[in-house]
Amino acid sequence: MNDDLWHDVERTRQALIAAGAGAPRVALVLGSGLGAYADTFTSGGSLAYDRIVGLPKPSVAGHGGRFVFGEKAGIRVIAMQGRVHLYEGHSVEQVVHGVRAMGALGAEVLVVTNAAGGIAEHLTPGELMLIEDHLNLTGHNPLAGPVATAERPRFVSMEQAYDRQLLEFARRGAAGPLHAGVYAGLLGPSYETPAEVRMLGRLGADAVGMSTVLEVIAARQLGLRCIGVSCITNRAAGLAGAVLDHDDVQAVAAAAGARLGALLDGVLGALASELEARP
Ligand code: HPA
Repeated sequence: MNDDLWHDVERTRQALIAAGAGAPRVALVLGSGLGAYADTFTSGGSLAYDRIVGLPKPSVAGHGGRFVFGEKAGIRVIAMQGRVHLYEGHSVEQVVHGVRAMGALGAEVLVVTNAAGGIAEHLTPGELMLIEDHLNLTGHNPLAGPVATAERPRFVSMEQAYDRQLLEFARRGAAGPLHAGVYAGLLGPSYETPAEVRMLGRLGADAVGMSTVLEVIAARQLGLRCIGVSCITNRAAGLAGAVLDHDDVQAVAAAAGARLGALLDGVLGALASELEARP
């Protein structure tokens, strides 16, 4: 079963090469309402997930469902425009398939973005939060399975899962001060109860969502340096008067898209200079 899984990842790598995605330095996963960034890539192309074995088409509004590749800020990039979630009923292997394929293609850096609910007081709708660390509360781990090899170790360190230098690039490129904090990744798809949000706050979470953590674990296994940005779309349950709604989440994420794009441009620009020094 594990052999099949890596065989499928290799097939996806080959399909991406055949589509023209060759040799990206940076991989991105663009979350709910945040996919527009990939439309700004130049001299590239795309490949729809439904052309790929092992990767289901996202069933969530606001998630496109294709790889987009090309150049951005002077660097070769590939992005997943829309991601696959556990809560759609997919396996953990399917959830991280795209990240593994982009890693197999040669990406050295993974940029993950998501929509999240703000728990810390200062994280209000429209704010961006750099992910400094995470709580994996999904009950799953993509590294669980029968086979561990030298290239795919089982016991992967998650200290500094979010790369300090990339965080610094993001801070330096930002127009003003940027929040940073801990992202709690839950299974979903129901939003949290107010009691769960109070619990998460006591556990050290600043923001909460239903993605990202499994992708980062899979990327760390392959040695990719990771950076994560949460777009805060709402105050988490019980912290504001309003009832949570997926349409609102998408609308706020899309409105924050320009700021997120500027932040990502800054990170890619700094990375381009760094990578130029060691091609
Ligand atoms: N909880 C979980 N996931 C989310 C939220 C939230 O409040 N907002 C956007 N994604």
